Amino acid sequence: MAGSDQTRKKFKLRSQRWFDDPEDPGMTALYAERYLNFGLTRGELQSGKPIIGIAQTGSDIAPCNRHHLDLAKRVRDGITAAGGLALEFPIHPIQETGKRPTAALDRNLAYLSLVEVLHGYPLDGVVLTTGCDKTTPACLMGAATVNIPAIVLSGGPMLDGHHQGLLTGSGTIVWKARKMLAAGEINYDNFMELVSSSATSVGHCNTMGTALSMNCLAEALGMSLPGCGAIPAPYRERGQMAYKTGRRIVEMVGENLRPSDIMTREAFENAIVAASALGASTNCPPHLLAIARHMGVELAIEDWDRIGHDVPLLVDCQPAGRFLGEAFHRAGGVPAVMLELHRAGKIHGGARTVSGRTIAEDAERAVVVVDREVIRPYAKPLKERAGFAILSGNIFDSAVMKVSVIDREFYNRFLSSPAGVFEGHVVVFEGPEDYHDRIEDPSLGIDERTVLVIRNCGPVGYPGSAEVVNMQPPAALLKAGIDTLPTMGDGRQSGTSGSPSILNVSPEAAVGGGLALLKSGDPIRIDLNKRRVDVLIPEAELAARRAAWKPPQLVNKTPWEEIQRSMVGQLGTGACLEPATLYLNILETRGES
Ligand code: FES
Ligand code: MG
Repeated sequence: MAGSDQTRKKFKLRSQRWFDDPEDPGMTALYAERYLNFGLTRGELQSGKPIIGIAQTGSDIAPCNRHHLDLAKRVRDGITAAGGLALEFPIHPIQETGKRPTAALDRNLAYLSLVEVLHGYPLDGVVLTTGCDKTTPACLMGAATVNIPAIVLSGGPMLDGHHQGLLTGSGTIVWKARKMLAAGEINYDNFMELVSSSATSVGHCNTMGTALSMNCLAEALGMSLPGCGAIPAPYRERGQMAYKTGRRIVEMVGENLRPSDIMTREAFENAIVAASALGASTNCPPHLLAIARHMGVELAIEDWDRIGHDVPLLVDCQPAGRFLGEAFHRAGGVPAVMLELHRAGKIHGGARTVSGRTIAEDAERAVVVVDREVIRPYAKPLKERAGFAILSGNIFDSAVMKVSVIDREFYNRFLSSPAGVFEGHVVVFEGPEDYHDRIEDPSLGIDERTVLVIRNCGPVGYPGSAEVVNMQPPAALLKAGIDTLPTMGDGRQSGTSGSPSILNVSPEAAVGGGLALLKSGDPIRIDLNKRRVDVLIPEAELAARRAAWKPPQLVNKTPWEEIQRSMVGQLGTGACLEPATLYLNILETRGES
C-alpha cells in the first residue's frame, strides 16, 4: 500500500504532506527518514494511516500523571487496532504540588509548546492525556487553538484515602491537618502520616479539587468518552478507556470531528451547569474561560453566576461534601450527573461529544449505577443554588466565591443578619511571606469581624497567581473555636480547600487594581445577595490613594516569568497569554487545513 496511486493522487491527511508528497520527494525523504530509525517502516509511514499524537503529560516529576506512561500503551493498542499510527511526545510537565513558585505559571507554557507541536509536526489527531490540575486546561487550550481532532484521556483519581477509619482526601486533609497542627492537637509525625494517607495509589487528587473537577468538565464539555472523567487510575476500566479512546480518535480523524464542533457555546454552558452540580473547584472559571477564548467562543466570568449559580449541588464529594473519587465513579460518575441535569432540563442535550453522539445520548447509554448517597436526584440535592457567586465592587471588577462550601456555622456567624451581609474591617497582607510572618502578631487586632486580605498574588504579581487566599486565622482564634474568617485576595485557592474565600480578584493589585489601595483597618461590606464587596471609605480618599500608588518592582527569576508577565491577562478573563488569543483555528485561518 505504501504510497499507492490512490493516496498519491491527492492529500487525504495532513500528515501526508510530510511523509508522502509526490510533488516533493526530496523533502518527503528528509521528513520520513528519521522516523524510520526506531523501526517504523516506510510502508507504515506512507500507507495513508492517520498519524495520531499521544500528548504525554506524565513523567517522574509529574507523578499525578505518571500513570499515563502505562496507559499510553493501551492508547497505542487502540490506535493501531483502528488502523492508525501512534507517535507519542512529551508535554512540558505541570506538577501542581511540586513546581515553584507555582504550577500556574506553567499552564500557559505547556499550552504554547503544545500548539507548536500540533502545528509543526505530522499529526492528524491527538490524544490529550490529562490529570493534574493545569494539565487538562493546557491540553484543551492547545487543541482549541490548533483545532485538529482531539480527545481527552483522563488519568483518573487515586484510590480513596483512609486513616483510622476515616476517609482522607487529597489536599482537603492537608488544610484540616494544618489547623490541627497549629492548634496543637497533633505532632509533626502525626501530621505527615495523616497527609500521606490520602495519596494511596497512582493517579491525581481524589477529592473534587481542580484535577477531578477539570477532568469531569472535560467530559461535560464533550471532549472525552462518557465515563472517562472519574474512573480511578488503577481500575481496569481505566486501561479499557485508554484503549477505547485510542480507537475513537482514529475514527474522529476520518469524520473530521474537530474541537470546534464540540466545544461550542452550548458545551461551555453545559460545563458551567455541571460544575455547580459537582461542587467543582474555584480554579474552573479561569481555566474554562481560557479554553473558550482559545476556541473563539464568547464566555464571560459573569456567565458562571448567571448560568450556574442557581444549579444545586448533587455530588457529595470533598471538599463540599463527604466522599471521594472511587465512590463518585461507582455512583455513576459524570454520565449520571449529566443525565440528572438533562432530565431536569438544565443542559443543552443536543451538544455533540467526541463519541459522535450528543451529550444526552451519551448519558442515556452509559451504564449508570447510581448511588443516591453520592449523587443526589435533582429534586433532592445536597444544597440548593450551589454555583459560584461572581462578585464586583468599588475595588475590583470581578471575584469568585464558592457558595457550596459555606457551611451553616460560618453563614450564621458572618452572613445571617441581615441575610448575606457582613460588615467588618480588613487586615492586609502583601503576600504569603508577609502573611506567615505577621499572622500571629497580636497588634493586628484580628478578631471575628476581620476580613483577611492578601494581595500581589495574581498572574502578574506573584507571578502566575498563587493558591494562598484560603488563609487560616491566628492560633488564638483557632483555639477559641473560630476556624474560618472571611478572606479575600487577588490570588487563587486550592480546589481542595473548603474555604469560602473571595478569590481571583481582578484586576490584581500589581497592575493597579483597587486591592492595592486598601489599608489595614479599612471598613468593608460584603453583600452576597447583591454580589457586592465595597470598601466603606470616601471615593475622594480612594482617588487620592490611587494617585499616590506606585507599581511594585517585580523581580523575575526566570526568563519565562518575565515573558509571561509581559503578556498575561487577569484571572477574570482566563489569565491567558493575550497575544495568543488572537490565533484562532490556526490550521484553517493560517493557510493550512
Ligand atoms: Fe496533582 Fe492534585 S496535585 S492532581
Ligand atoms: Mg491547586
